[in-house]
Amino acid sequence: MNSSRNLLVTGGAGFIGANFVHYWRRRHEADAITVLDALTYAGNRANLASLEGSAGFRFVKGDITDRDLVAKLLAEQQIDTLVHFAAESHVDRSILGPDEFIRTNILGTHSLLEACRKVWLGATPRPNHRFHHVSTDEVYGSLGTDDPAFSESTAYAPNSPYSASKAASDHLVRAYHHTYGLKVTTSNCSNNYGPMHFPEKLIPLIIVNILEGKPLPIYGDGRNIRDWLFVDDHCQGIERVLERGRIGETYNIGGWSEVENIDLVRRLCRIADDVFKADVSLAARFPGSPCARGLQAESLITFVRDRPGHDRRYAIDCRKAETELGFAPSITLEDGLKQTFTWYLGNEPWWRAVMDGSYRNWLATQYTA
Ligand code: NAD
Ligand code: DAU
Repeated sequence: MNSSRNLLVTGGAGFIGANFVHYWRRRHEADAITVLDALTYAGNRANLASLEGSAGFRFVKGDITDRDLVAKLLAEQQIDTLVHFAAESHVDRSILGPDEFIRTNILGTHSLLEACRKVWLGATPRPNHRFHHVSTDEVYGSLGTDDPAFSESTAYAPNSPYSASKAASDHLVRAYHHTYGLKVTTSNCSNNYGPMHFPEKLIPLIIVNILEGKPLPIYGDGRNIRDWLFVDDHCQGIERVLERGRIGETYNIGGWSEVENIDLVRRLCRIADDVFKADVSLAARFPGSPCARGLQAESLITFVRDRPGHDRRYAIDCRKAETELGFAPSITLEDGLKQTFTWYLGNEPWWRAVMDGSYRNWLATQYTA
């Protein structure tokens, strides 16, 4: 491993990217970090506020499709490690409007690869480089109840415009290694949750809606299964890949934590009921919540129209990362959900600020019972 690194983190103002930047900063103080982020609706500079102005940290507002900007950053900042999170990440948005997913996830990844090829493999090669691509388990498609979990050799079968765009980007990354010798690694991770998660995704949406006393929308019959991983454990997995992963390899990262959506939502409801009982001051802060009136949060559960093409089950077999890299999820789902609920209670201004008018209008079109 390098003694110190110069990282370029794309999408570092988003949910996982920002958690990764903080995680890396805590554990690798000597490393320099440049964040490149376009600050789309999902990017939030406040996620990095505590790092602004600190030595070795730099924020650049810019688009990953801007190849000249990326090449300039790679050269001027002497970047040796690029960790690529930037993406359009929400499946429902990809169904409503795939264009931006094609542009950012496919063309953007291609632009980054070209900039890296130019700077790292060009006239003055930089042999000690790494392009780490952050991808998803959704590229493998959907599993039946008894199917084995996705392994690294499972054939790709993406079903949504989002997962198809991520699959395309995975293939481009692979091809740049095979054809040009770019030093790449890829990780395919299951569903993340934790602090700074934009409240359009299931877990933060349910937490915020419980607090505001709004319906908890469950798509279809609620029996779709996801494998949940606390975001810091995903960061740990990426760290292991950067430190110990073999060039050109892909690694699955997951939580061994499969849960039906309805079960997950009920667990969050029980956590809310308990937290409100333990802290009576919450009733005054969140008077719209049923918990404030001694009612159960579950009373808000509302079954709504299913997501088109909704994948039934994801499950990750992460034995390769465990045995080769020493990766191990460290936070149980129950503890992770409690920590996450507590974070949203303690950061009300954060989620109120991201849930502005335009976002709410979009949200309102989604939940037709
Ligand atoms: P997010 O939507 O919260 O954040 C994406 C970030 O990328 C935002 O800060 C946004 O401003 C930035 N961005 C978008 N387009 C950009 C562009 N053209 N140029 C520069 N920046 C741009 O996403 P997330 O949930 O943090 O996911 C991060 C990565 O991890 C994505 O690649 C996603 O596919 C992958 N992933 C996510 C999950 C999950 O559960 N959220 C699981 C597995 C893999
Ligand atoms: O599996 C990894 C993927 O996980 C990532 O690649 C994506 O970027 C990330 O968004 C996530 O995708 P999902 O579609 O699984 O996450 P989402 O939170 O949108 O939905 C989780 C499950 O909950 C899914 O089965 C759909 C369902 N759902 C979602 C929402 C937003 C509901 O039932 N109601 C909802 O309101």
